[in-house]
Amino acid sequence: MDLAWWQESIFYQIFLRSFKDSNNDGIGDINGLISKLGYIKDLGIDAVYITPFFPSPYFDSGFDVSDFFDVDKYVGTMSDFDNLVIQTHELGMKIVIDIPINHTAVNHEWFIKSSSSKDNEYSDFYIWKDEIPNNWLSNFGGSSWSYNDNRKQYYMHSFTKDIPDLNWRCEALVEKMLEVIRFYLDKKIDGIRLSCANLIIKDKDFRDNPKFPGTFINNYYKQRHIFDRNRPTSHRIIQRIRSLFDEYEDRVLIGDIVVTPPGEPELVASYYGVYKDEFHLAFDYTIANSKLTPKTIKTLSTRWIEACDTSWPAWVFSSHDHKRLVTKFNKDIKKTRLIQMFLLTQRGTPFLYYGEELGLEDSRIPKSRQRDLQRKKLFFFQNSRDGARGPMLWNIENYGGFSTNEPYLPMGNIKKCVENQETKDVSILKYTRKMIALRKIHTSLINGDFTYLDVNNDNIIAYIRTNEEESLLIVLNFTCKKRILKFSDIGLPFIAKNSIFSTNPYAKSPHFTNNEILLNGYEGAIYSIDI
Ligand code: GLC
Ligand code: CA
Repeated sequence: MDLAWWQESIFYQIFLRSFKDSNNDGIGDINGLISKLGYIKDLGIDAVYITPFFPSPYFDSGFDVSDFFDVDKYVGTMSDFDNLVIQTHELGMKIVIDIPINHTAVNHEWFIKSSSSKDNEYSDFYIWKDEIPNNWLSNFGGSSWSYNDNRKQYYMHSFTKDIPDLNWRCEALVEKMLEVIRFYLDKKIDGIRLSCANLIIKDKDFRDNPKFPGTFINNYYKQRHIFDRNRPTSHRIIQRIRSLFDEYEDRVLIGDIVVTPPGEPELVASYYGVYKDEFHLAFDYTIANSKLTPKTIKTLSTRWIEACDTSWPAWVFSSHDHKRLVTKFNKDIKKTRLIQMFLLTQRGTPFLYYGEELGLEDSRIPKSRQRDLQRKKLFFFQNSRDGARGPMLWNIENYGGFSTNEPYLPMGNIKKCVENQETKDVSILKYTRKMIALRKIHTSLINGDFTYLDVNNDNIIAYIRTNEEESLLIVLNFTCKKRILKFSDIGLPFIAKNSIFSTNPYAKSPHFTNNEILLNGYEGAIYSIDI
């Protein structure tokens, strides 16, 4: 089977302002990233994915755009961006950008014009109503309708009132956004993640969302979001965007599909399109939103795999919207290693969030330094998302080699910096690099079939990856106790030939016999087997 580059690649997500500061104003920027491309390449990464870099008032960390055709002065210039594309390609890597297509910042020229009168070129670019028409809520709290004094009407916002939703039922707006997308495709980027892609079309009759039963901390989750998002017409729009992509060679269209708890992998997978004419890859955050217990991982990943059917799954366990893995696991690095192994042995495309290779913890963010102001006490697992957006830590110098000035967000634990981990014999950085390298050597991890094994134990995850060349058995023990897994218990007559790798750097190899495997507490291991 011939796979596309984005099926074989490991992606690395970068929160641009937090990666590397080149001019020492405390804010990470494009030139800083360029100076660290070598590090990313050495990690074994194939594609770099960066969060929005457009000018922004930063109510929503850059996902609130004031001009899609420009670069925020804090992160660089358009020629820096063009250079980033060139430099990334020169190192043999791909580059993917993020375009928030559902909304803009209030200070975007389109909104200023749209709010100025009811009959100008831009008046229908946003969603306006004389009265609040329904019970829709903002994802960040309160009603999703706010009054505009100029136009003397209400406008709709899925997030805060600073970020009005665009009206994708307006053909002129659709054409403008296609122009934005084309502008970047012409700049030879390799792909785009469309942020909040399933929110773009709202019910044409503006019906009330029905109630969703259950106890949630957030009123937003007490509604079933069937009328303010996921309308059938959104698929038509995605198809149009995909057609535009198909005019170009080898580009990847990625969908950020927003789900509310308890998540819905089947809905996310519907955005691959019945005829595979929508997204190449869709992000399902259902697992990332869960507590990441072995049971939820197994159940939700099974649903995700089945929902994707013959489409290619994307795997994301941490991001700028989630707590970092180590923090989620109360600093337990062993569990983080297990998740890393799971991520990098899946069938599908893995997305690694910057700093996860260091086992970075969330930064502590005092109230006075919060940048993500929108989500106070509202988001599923956290108050502000800034913790997971802390500066990348490069060395033990002041400010972790991120900048020579105080970073705009507080740093995490400097001991975890790259330099420290490079000099140690054992480190999670070295482990991650090795796992990434293994995925390249063992082709079954990329193109092999995936089968879960029934091991009769909720705390052990076991599966097989197999292609014509090899079969690998991956077993992850999520308990603190030593476990023995008898092949006869799994009901399959295979024999381990070789133990390839363990999450435990001190594991003695081989730790298997002809009929059983021995795993230490929180150990995950990969074996080559005969089926
Ligand atoms: C996307 C982003 C998130 C942002 C939201 C609204 O889901 O991942 O960070 O807050 O869009 O713009
Ligand atoms: Ca800077």
